[in-house]
Amino acid sequence: MKQSDIFNADTLAAIEKEIDALLTRPEAPVAAGLDRIYKAMRYSALAGGKRLRPYLTVLAADLFKVPREHSVRAGAAIELIHCYSLIHDDLPAMDNSDLRRGRPTSHIEFDDATAVLAGDALLTEAFHVLADPATHPDPEVRTKLVRELAHAAGPMGMVGGQMMDILAETGMAEAEDITLIQSLKTGALIAVSCRFGGLLAQASPAEIDALDRYATDIGLAFQITDDLLDVSGSAEQTGKPTGQDAMNSKPTFVDLLGEEGAREKAAALIEDAKQALSVFTPGQQPLAGIADFILSRQL
Ligand code: IPE
Ligand code: IPE
Ligand code: MG
Ligand code: MG
Ligand code: MG
Repeated sequence: MKQSDIFNADTLAAIEKEIDALLTRPEAPVAAGLDRIYKAMRYSALAGGKRLRPYLTVLAADLFKVPREHSVRAGAAIELIHCYSLIHDDLPAMDNSDLRRGRPTSHIEFDDATAVLAGDALLTEAFHVLADPATHPDPEVRTKLVRELAHAAGPMGMVGGQMMDILAETGMAEAEDITLIQSLKTGALIAVSCRFGGLLAQASPAEIDALDRYATDIGLAFQITDDLLDVSGSAEQTGKPTGQDAMNSKPTFVDLLGEEGAREKAAALIEDAKQALSVFTPGQQPLAGIADFILSRQL
């Protein structure tokens, strides 16, 4: 399944435009260092990418008819965090990858210090964006967004998962360990992307809970298909090196269950994810489409 079969081009263009606007360097003061940091941030954040996370925020917010100007902006903030996580994930001290989104990684194009700083800058800028009244007029809603994204990206979320992922390189892991690693390193940002739709709308706890159940399942399925593509995809297709996980002895479901078993597990998760959407009948179709895309994606 191609991304363009499922994702709406106008929505993707709006997300792209927002990220571009958020990363436009103020004209003053004039300084080579400021030019360089913005150049490096833009290099990684405006280099393609599926934009899955902001897209999920927009679709989840659409369920409650949240104005697009709010959902696109809040989703873009999550994408900045995602782009930072990729820059740091690729560093020599982590996965040591030289290709990302079909281009040299940040530390190859610039240098290690610039890549670290570009990641730091994207991370901090995300919270700058969320705290701005343009994201939502209600300060309580903005505080919730900040708090939830900080939790999802931090030591009990993406960063904690990345730490576990590095420690796990040395040994075999059980299904439970792999589930925890993947739900933190990848699932947490995907989950908060969906929750943002409900938070922007001040939706009920039951509605946010349904979004959570959908997101937990697609998040795990998404990392399983990432791991499958690492084994059976190509760099031309995915825009990043393949065979990395075996080389770095990463414990994955592909490792544990074999390719066929991992594919079956992902398919079961996608079915469960679609079930969780039943409370949103009849508006759930776009989110169900994303679940199908995650299972059959080739990039
Ligand atoms: C890659 O994420 C890193 C993982 C969490 C598996 P994506 O596959 O969403 O990467 P882009 O944003 O499309 O490049
Ligand atoms: C990384 O997982 C998840 C992040 C938090 C960035 P991977 O290391 O498998 O992601 P890729 O394959 O490099 O995109
Ligand atoms: Mg990694
Ligand atoms: Mg990696
Ligand atoms: Mg991977």
